[in-house]
Amino acid sequence: MTFYAFLNEGYHGKFVIRLCRTVSCDMAGKDRVASQLESDLGITFGQTTRDGKFSLEWASCTGMCDQGPALLVNDQVFTSVTPEKVHDILQLCRKSFGPLAVHDGHHEEARV
Ligand code: FES
Repeated sequence: MTFYAFLNEGYHGKFVIRLCRTVSCDMAGKDRVASQLESDLGITFGQTTRDGKFSLEWASCTGMCDQGPALLVNDQVFTSVTPEKVHDILQLCRKSFGPLAVHDGHHEEARV
């Protein structure tokens, strides 16, 4: 484990979901969002789904403290995330293998 959440230490899924666990997001309900992510994906933080699509990681403050809970999917920010919004975010990922998709550090083109 590194102090810097964006350093890759191994295999990650196409979509790396990094949920902020710093104090403002923590107070805004990041635990409920984390539980929903783990439940929907069937993995815990630090793991990647068997199909290689999703990884869950913790992140430190991303500068969106007034709009927490905040998370990143690869380099896209989502704010004011609720457990209900988790489903929509995951659906967006499943439909998109375009700009949001990163695998082994390389962007992939959209698949049809
Ligand atoms: S505390 Fe979560 S974005 Fe700053």
